[in-house]
Amino acid sequence: MRASVNNYRLITEENPRSFVSEAYRTLRTNIQFSSIDSQIRSIVVTSPEPSEGKSTTISNLAVTFAQEGKSTILIDADMRKPTLHHYFLKSNRSGLSNLLAGQMDLQQCLNDTHIDHLYLLPSGPIPPNPAEMLNSKRMEQLIEELKTRFEMILIDSPPTLAVTDSQILATKVDGVVFVLNCGKVKRDTARKALDRLEQVNARMLGVVLNNKDRKKSESPYYYYYGYGPKQK
Ligand SMILES: Nc1ncnc2c1ncn2[C@@H]1O[C@H](COP(=O)(O)OP(=O)(O)O)[C@@H](O)[C@H]1O
Ligand SMILES: [Mg+2]
Repeated sequence: MRASVNNYRLITEENPRSFVSEAYRTLRTNIQFSSIDSQIRSIVVTSPEPSEGKSTTISNLAVTFAQEGKSTILIDADMRKPTLHHYFLKSNRSGLSNLLAGQMDLQQCLNDTHIDHLYLLPSGPIPPNPAEMLNSKRMEQLIEELKTRFEMILIDSPPTLAVTDSQILATKVDGVVFVLNCGKVKRDTARKALDRLEQVNARMLGVVLNNKDRKKSESPYYYYYGYGPKQK
């Protein structure tokens, strides 16, 4: 459907010279420089609540890594409300849930995309037990395998306060990018979500403030700032 396709546009692909695309590249650069000793190669994105911009952020971030020539895989681990396949006009019939259930192998589920160097692993059919699946040995093995094949692994996840999935994923990756819809989310809510991530010793790479107030500006704004776990 044309209408739903339009909701899933990638500004970094359509208009790489725009201010917003530049902000995504800044996010990419900050992630690359956020660790001196070890390279960040796997990232999960989450936010306290639904519709704060997680999928938009991780998809555009993936495009900017791929545009830099990095072989990148985008995984839709939001098995509650999967959307990443829409951005790349792919089917969601097979994907992560099939892999974790042991029904299919990676080759059957991996999609190339119209963007060079960028691959997509859709969520696959919505399973009854996403958290359990993400907590499995198979998920760890999958990430290890993908590390041998891709330079960057970017993972979408459900809201932190709704379910435990993002906490589980945070323990399996190098870092977490936290998206806040700053026009909507309350300070306490954001704090509660951050606490949950800190409880599992997630490595916070930074916060994206996603401002959807279009009255102030025609284009969406993204800001990024990094902070260490000790600076509360
Ligand atoms: N900065 C933005 N400006 C305008 N619309 C946005 C912005 N970020 C996200 N959206 C829109 O808001 C909706 C929810 O975003 P999405 O990335 O799907 O959120 P989440 O994955 O956190 O649920 C989508 O329709 C998306 O296109
Ligand atoms: Mg989403």
